[in-house]
Amino acid sequence: MGGNWKMNTDLAAGVELAEDALAALAAGGLEQSVDVAVFPPFPYLQSVGRALGHSNVLLGGQDCSAEASGAFTGQVSAAMLCDLGARSVIIGHSERRHGLGEDDDLLREKLAIALESGLVAVLCVGETLSQRDDGRAEAVVAAQLRGCFGTLTAEAAMRVVVAYEPVWAIGTGRTASPDDAQAMHASIRGVLGDLYDSAFAARTRVIYGGSVNAKNARAIFDRPDVDGGLIGGASLKADDFVSICRAAAEAWSAT
Ligand code: PGA
Repeated sequence: MGGNWKMNTDLAAGVELAEDALAALAAGGLEQSVDVAVFPPFPYLQSVGRALGHSNVLLGGQDCSAEASGAFTGQVSAAMLCDLGARSVIIGHSERRHGLGEDDDLLREKLAIALESGLVAVLCVGETLSQRDDGRAEAVVAAQLRGCFGTLTAEAAMRVVVAYEPVWAIGTGRTASPDDAQAMHASIRGVLGDLYDSAFAARTRVIYGGSVNAKNARAIFDRPDVDGGLIGGASLKADDFVSICRAAAEAWSAT
């Protein structure tokens, strides 16, 4: 379960959010049953990392550069994330694909350098509303997957988590129905099977993101191909985020 804080919190609030989430996860006995990562804004990584201490909660960056180092004003390298204790990174969030024009060619390079640096990469894919309305959702997501995985070896690609995030569901209060999420996750696994093999497709985590909250989480996580969630707005309240983690643990223990 990933908490994508986006450009929210200030330093004190970010540290407090991490501390509160950690305490609630421990109180709920969820630390062992759900793999959790938080993705704070870059400037707060180190402080949030300190707050997480030696817990099982992973620290992650919201993006990284496709470049290793050099004259790239404003960018943050994968190695810098590692230096700060991050072990994961989000690649290709739709707010970067659509807001900042990042395309699959760039994202493939980012993915490669993140994996070379030893990070777990959360690769976001998802269609816009017009693409869905045109009946092209699965084709768009398949093209994103093929474009971003490129020629990555199965060994390198093992550290990729795929996040299906329909653009129209992010921050809008609209979620994909559990059926739609399941259908797309199964389709994603089909593409991964073509790119690698069925064992690879079966063990790759495919998580859902887009207006997940404490109320709708369980129905989504109940679906067999939904392995977790990438949570934006609801991750900014520790109680909500931990309720979503609990919903996931309950869904999985019921299967
Ligand atoms: P949301 O964001 O939960 O606020 O819709 C999800 C995401 O962008 O990862």
